[in-house]
Amino acid sequence: MASATGSAERPSIAILGGTGSEGSGLALRWAHAGYRVILGSRNAQKAAQVCAGINERLAAARVSHAANRAAAAAADIVVLCVPYAAQRGTVEEVRDALEGKILIDTTVPLMPPKVARVQLPEGGSAVAAIQDLLGGSVRVVSAFQNVAAHLLQDLDHAVECDVLVCGDDVAARETVIKLAADIGVRGIHAGSIANSAAAEALTSVLIAINSRYKIAGGAGIRITRLDGAEH
Ligand SMILES: NC(=O)c1ccc[n+]([C@@H]2O[C@H](COP(=O)([O-])OP(=O)(O)OC[C@H]3O[C@@H](n4cnc5c(N)ncnc54)[C@H](OP(=O)(O)O)[C@@H]3O)[C@@H](O)[C@H]2O)c1
Repeated sequence: MASATGSAERPSIAILGGTGSEGSGLALRWAHAGYRVILGSRNAQKAAQVCAGINERLAAARVSHAANRAAAAAADIVVLCVPYAAQRGTVEEVRDALEGKILIDTTVPLMPPKVARVQLPEGGSAVAAIQDLLGGSVRVVSAFQNVAAHLLQDLDHAVECDVLVCGDDVAARETVIKLAADIGVRGIHAGSIANSAAAEALTSVLIAINSRYKIAGGAGIRITRLDGAEH
């Protein structure tokens, strides 16, 4: 798989909503790992600023920006990092640019103000609903719901948590696990896209834990007893 910006070994990555805290954190980490990243945004001025900030931090011009649709069209892999309220609308806007690609959806269906309470949408999972919407020609993979943006933004420290990776296509999950590994995070095959409900719900649990135990950086999860297990 190669594109104008990616290579066979290193696919290019578009991050829709890439100006936000989670999206820009992932962009920073992947760019730091040597990937070409395109920030997708509705606002070119804001995107240019975020983009310049990341490139300055890395002292390398690895991140560019474009409107969400153009970013999705230009990249090999697309990551969705917009708030739940904008999830479906953003996917519909870029839909034809996703054909044949992997869409990594980080969405957590938080319903403010009660974000520390699990409130999954009808049907169970926000991300599974996107796979239903797009059908089989887009391989949707759910990941990074439980990684706090704050941790991604801090390049001086490793991101200390595991990532549950859910999706119906095993090869697509494998690709996402490799992308996670390249930013120092252990991704774990966590089953079909329906299982994304658990990762989405877990975020509210982590928010409640952060609040109760005053964990400023954000608590994360670890899956035990995987070391030495067959992968
Ligand atoms: N923050 C975290 O720690 C964290 C952790 C795990 C998962 N997540 C998930 O990651 C996603 C993004 O979270 P975030 O905290 O980065 O969100 P955010 O900062 O509130 O928003 C991200 C970006 O989405 C775009 N956006 C906002 N409203 C929009 C709308 N109505 N239509 C289209 N685009 C819109 C904006 O980009 P432009 O204005 O540039 O278009 C914004 O910069 C969410 O689904 C969240 O649940 C977040």
